[in-house]
Amino acid sequence: MGADAPRLLITGVRGKTGLPLARLLVEHKDVDVLGGSSNPESVDLDGVRPTAFSWDVPSGWRAATEDVDAVYIVRPDRADAPDLIGALLDETPARARIVLLSEQDADYMGADGWAPRAERAVRDSGHAWTILRPSWFMQVFTDPRFYRDQIADGALPFSSGGASLAWIDARDIAAVAEQALLDEKHAGQVYELTGPESLTLPRTAELLSAAAGRPVVLHEMTIDEAVDGTTGFERELFALTFERVRAGSFAEVTDSVERVTGRPARTLPAFLAEAGPPFGRAT
Ligand SMILES: NC(=O)c1ccc[n+]([C@@H]2O[C@H](COP(=O)([O-])OP(=O)(O)OC[C@H]3O[C@@H](n4cnc5c(N)ncnc54)[C@H](OP(=O)(O)O)[C@@H]3O)[C@@H](O)[C@H]2O)c1
Repeated sequence: MGADAPRLLITGVRGKTGLPLARLLVEHKDVDVLGGSSNPESVDLDGVRPTAFSWDVPSGWRAATEDVDAVYIVRPDRADAPDLIGALLDETPARARIVLLSEQDADYMGADGWAPRAERAVRDSGHAWTILRPSWFMQVFTDPRFYRDQIADGALPFSSGGASLAWIDARDIAAVAEQALLDEKHAGQVYELTGPESLTLPRTAELLSAAAGRPVVLHEMTIDEAVDGTTGFERELFALTFERVRAGSFAEVTDSVERVTGRPARTLPAFLAEAGPPFGRAT
């Protein structure tokens, strides 16, 4: 690798967008990819340098960001995220370009809402920045922390109030992040990122059923039922997220994935066909 190869830090490299982003970046011959994780021993990716990075250990941020040219920030879902992001960027070399993973229609919350404040920490940092605002990830159907196991048992519990979601494949978010990290022409852009179509939950359940080869039944529920079992900030954030689902915050379809990457965004049926029934769970 050349001495002036751009050095990129990916926070959350084991996560839904961080992992596909790392896989894209290592394909570039002259890029030094640092894979940030709170558990760096578990980062085992060809061409990626495991790098200790934890939002809980600010004393490690300077080493993690030393000489970096760009940072991909996976916003931590915690109340102090705006402050943490601002503090991290204070320690990051001024020349480093920042790409923040935010969420679709973040302005719904008003300027003093949590997501807009996290974005403002980036905009006001003095760094060149790009903000990614994706819809809900298709990977929630394959992630055991979300719906994988319920779907495998034939159920999709959700609180949509009849609204649609423009589900996006996290790999398409990663493909946009790749461009934004490597090309300065994306500086100052806010990209609302979605899949190619907006689907109601009944239609989503139909597609899940078709891909699974057996019924996946939608259980439409209230927000209180949907957030049952969560507490504190996580509960507040989930409740607000479902309120926004019901208000249509994640329904609008954009062409940003294709405009930035030159490739159309993946469809839900294509994603499910690739994931294979029962979407990632061994039976
Ligand atoms: N899921 C969706 O549909 C969706 C939609 C729109 C926006 N978003 C936003 O996207 C972001 C990512 O959400 P996600 O659910 O998809 O998560 P994810 O990226 O799949 O996983 C979260 C990552 O955080 C890392 N992490 C955990 N504890 C950490 C710590 N103390 N310090 C540093 N890193 C830590 C984990 O890696 P290690 O354990 O290796 O550290 C993991 O890679 C969130 O801001 C979320 O609000 C999600």
